[in-house]
Amino acid sequence: MVSLRVCAVFLALVCVTTTVHGAVSHVNRQGVKYKIDKVTDGILSEVLQSIRHEAHNVKELDLSGNVLKKINEADFQPFRNLELLNLSSNVFYEPVDLRSLSKLQTVDLNNNFLQEVLVASSIVTLHAANNNISQVICEGKAPSPKSKRIYLANNKIGSLLDFSNECRRNVEYLDLSLNEIDMVDFSELSDSAHSLKELYLRLNFIFDIKNRQNVAFQQITKIDLSSNKLAFMGAEFGAVKTATSINLSNNKLVLIEENLTFSTSITSFDLRGNGLQCDTLKKMFNKNKQLKGVAGATVLAATNQKLEQCSQNITRYTGPFCCEDLMAPFADRLIALKRKQHSLISGQPSEQEREECEREIRERQMAAEAIRNQYKTIIDNETRKNREKIQLTEQKNKLEEELPIVQNSYESFQRIVVETARELQISVTENPDVLALMRSIIQRFEYLYIEEQNKQSDAIRDWEMYHQKEIHQKEENERLKKLIVDVDVALNNANVTMQGLIQQEQTLAEKLKKSPN
Ligand SMILES: *[C@@H]1O[C@H](CO)[C@@H](O)[C@H](O)[C@H]1NC(C)=O
Ligand SMILES: *[C@@H]1O[C@H](CO)[C@@H](O)[C@H](O)[C@H]1NC(C)=O
Ligand SMILES: *[C@@H]1O[C@H](CO)[C@@H](O)[C@H](O)[C@H]1NC(C)=O
Ligand SMILES: *[C@@H]1O[C@H](CO)[C@@H](O)[C@H](O)[C@H]1NC(C)=O
Ligand SMILES: *[C@@H]1O[C@H](CO)[C@@H](O)[C@H](O)[C@H]1NC(C)=O
Ligand SMILES: *[C@@H]1O[C@H](CO)[C@@H](O)[C@H](O)[C@H]1NC(C)=O
Ligand SMILES: *[C@@H]1O[C@H](CO)[C@@H](O)[C@H](O)[C@H]1NC(C)=O
Repeated sequence: MVSLRVCAVFLALVCVTTTVHGAVSHVNRQGVKYKIDKVTDGILSEVLQSIRHEAHNVKELDLSGNVLKKINEADFQPFRNLELLNLSSNVFYEPVDLRSLSKLQTVDLNNNFLQEVLVASSIVTLHAANNNISQVICEGKAPSPKSKRIYLANNKIGSLLDFSNECRRNVEYLDLSLNEIDMVDFSELSDSAHSLKELYLRLNFIFDIKNRQNVAFQQITKIDLSSNKLAFMGAEFGAVKTATSINLSNNKLVLIEENLTFSTSITSFDLRGNGLQCDTLKKMFNKNKQLKGVAGATVLAATNQKLEQCSQNITRYTGPFCCEDLMAPFADRLIALKRKQHSLISGQPSEQEREECEREIRERQMAAEAIRNQYKTIIDNETRKNREKIQLTEQKNKLEEELPIVQNSYESFQRIVVETARELQISVTENPDVLALMRSIIQRFEYLYIEEQNKQSDAIRDWEMYHQKEIHQKEENERLKKLIVDVDVALNNANVTMQGLIQQEQTLAEKLKKSPN
């Protein structure tokens, strides 16, 4: 009790109070640690100014749980020795650029609305869970010799390349759970090959893992790739073969590369919730004798059951995991996927697929909620209300920004409709009702379509008549040909007859000449 009271007195003594525009902000100092409460954008500069004379002494500055929307880099200039800056649970929408704080080792930006993080390469620990981050930049000439720990769960990272090179160097711990990564190349972490110990990629959309430069993480102990879209556990997993905890549950795994080997000191191995071929599992367990027992223990610890609970009517097991006797594993799965895709596109997904989809969405939402709760801080009602006000203002501003775009596209659409109507000789009034005009255009097109169809059927009729005539003509020709032949024959006969007559005439004439009159 005594020590508590002493502490309270001490705090009261070092407490600096600044009052600006009726807002009261407190600076609490404990040695090199400073905490500022009740500070807003409008008075931050002033409050920092008030401790400027002791700035070199400040190693930790805690501004968490305020309603700060942005910070001015210049305000932090005097705080050259700052090692820890806590900006968590504010309302930062605009980029926070901390690149000039070259001794900064720890930054906490959890629970804001940031899209981008910019820090000096001295950074060792970066907390930025629960934001909207799609880019992280580490920059500067003095990288820390200590390895980095990066916590970025529940953000919008789409690829490891969204981290600048310096951020990917000498990383020991990387948590990117619940982001939007769809492809991973282990080589993208090649500058952490000797440092990476834990890699968390749960709840992304990863369907492919590559390892173009054949990186091997020599210190890795934990890799969590659960709830992704992987279908094949390929040779690339050789990169994490020292891992003692591997989680690939809830993927779409069918096959495992047959030559994969795992650490002999592995303690946790989770492949539940996949659609593996029995044979591939059998081969893996044969090649890695330690694995079957570990897998069994993992399932038992997680579910209190010896075997995984299989979905639907699959009841075959290899080790503790459900499996299927697929003859042509990928072909079988591909056909199933094609069917699914078709039913999704045709708008009639089966009950089962709908459930699966909903389950995945629910899982993501629950995980996001859990991560938010994990970093939740207690803030008073006034601060909460101010935060909400700023959030609403931001949303309003964003909508207002979008409004002209929507309006523009509406106007250009209206222009196209009016032009089309004019081309179709539909009368357009001064202030046309676009919907009514659209209806007239559709009607006109329908009319034109029918007309066109009529023309086409007329043309077809004409063509048929022509065709008939042609056939008739051909028959006529045949008939004439025959006639000509007949005439020829007749003519020939006539010629023969005539020739005969000429001969008889000549014979008669000779006889007449010879006979005496
Ligand atoms: C930052 O402040 C929050 C709330 O006070 C606290 O929970 C968190 O541990 C602090 N972060 C660091 C890195 O000290
Ligand atoms: C998140 O970031 C994206 C851009 O990356 C932006 O379009 C979106 O509005 C942001 N969402 C929030 C809630 O800030
Ligand atoms: C593997 O990940 C899933 C989903 O994230 C989790 O429920 C499960 O407990 C993890 N397995 C182990 C052994 O930790
Ligand atoms: C697995 O290893 C064996 C023996 O080293 C080799 O013959 C075989 O081609 C390998 N299989 C694959 C798929 O790499
Ligand atoms: C489960 O069994 C039923 C009837 O035997 C079959 O129609 C259905 O396709 C099976 N489901 C799966 C996912 O194999
Ligand atoms: C803060 O608000 C909650 C509900 O919004 C209310 O129950 C609580 O009493 C309030 N606390 C104070 C100190 O006003
Ligand atoms: C009639 O027959 C003679 C002799 O056979 C022949 O020279 C002549 O060309 C024929 N005339 C006609 C019109 O066929």
